[in-house]
Amino acid sequence: MTGTSQQDLPPAVLPQGSGRRQPLKGQTALVTGANSGIGEAVAIALGAAGADVVVNYVVGDDTAAKVVEAIEAHGQKAMAIKADVSKEDQVQAMFARMIEAFGTIDILVNNAGLQRDAPMHEMTLDQWNLVINVNLTGQFLCAREAIREFMRRGVRPDVSCSAGKIVSMSSVHEVIPWAGHVNYAASKGGVMLMTKSMAQELAPQRIRVNSVCPGAIRTPINRDAWETPEAYDALMNLIPYKRIGEPDDIARAVVWLASDDADYANGISLFIDGGMTLYPGFTEGG
Ligand code: BGC
Repeated sequence: MTGTSQQDLPPAVLPQGSGRRQPLKGQTALVTGANSGIGEAVAIALGAAGADVVVNYVVGDDTAAKVVEAIEAHGQKAMAIKADVSKEDQVQAMFARMIEAFGTIDILVNNAGLQRDAPMHEMTLDQWNLVINVNLTGQFLCAREAIREFMRRGVRPDVSCSAGKIVSMSSVHEVIPWAGHVNYAASKGGVMLMTKSMAQELAPQRIRVNSVCPGAIRTPINRDAWETPEAYDALMNLIPYKRIGEPDDIARAVVWLASDDADYANGISLFIDGGMTLYPGFTEGG
């Protein structure tokens, strides 16, 4: 009998990092907006997974310093760099400082984002511009600098099987329209196609670009939606899983996407939302 028997097959080779307790050991990461909320949890989780981490922030020297300490407690290097991600010169200076201090960048988490909510007829151009500039242009400026370094350096097989990873912080609102938050929803819709287009363009260079789409997560950005029992109960109508998300729910997804365990994931939108995108209004009826 001819054909390939089980014995003829080469042994399965797991991607770098699989099964290791610290899948990001030896890698360097930059997290924007890392001194509070989701960014803080992500920065600390990357440190726990073995990465050295730059903690970017724009206001709050003290909170950024606390995140640095938490990462150092995991035995990793960390430094805080203040920079407004919507300003080209500040972004370029931040990357130059990081590369000088850490040598290179392997992982960018494009997390910085904000809301300036208003009904359409009252929304000012400043509210529109601020949200688009930080949430969308900020991700573009940081991604471009990271990609330049990934392309310059290429793959280091002892560190990772890819030349670099970008994780874009998107939102369920990359697909769920959001009345009263048109600027924010537009920015996240933009993040979705920016992420997927970058993934398509950069895959041949072994650069992976994916997004995480959080639902309602307990952070300062949406305090009004969970702080009182009444608000929390109303929020549960939108979440089939019947609990609010915690920042660590998102951080674990980011660590996975940044690691070689996710080597075949490219251009995906990973929804971590307790089912918020499952049209919960249709639980009954329709
Ligand atoms: C927003 C939160 C909101 C959540 C679910 C997030 O992207 O920043 O304010 O609670 O989406 O609607």
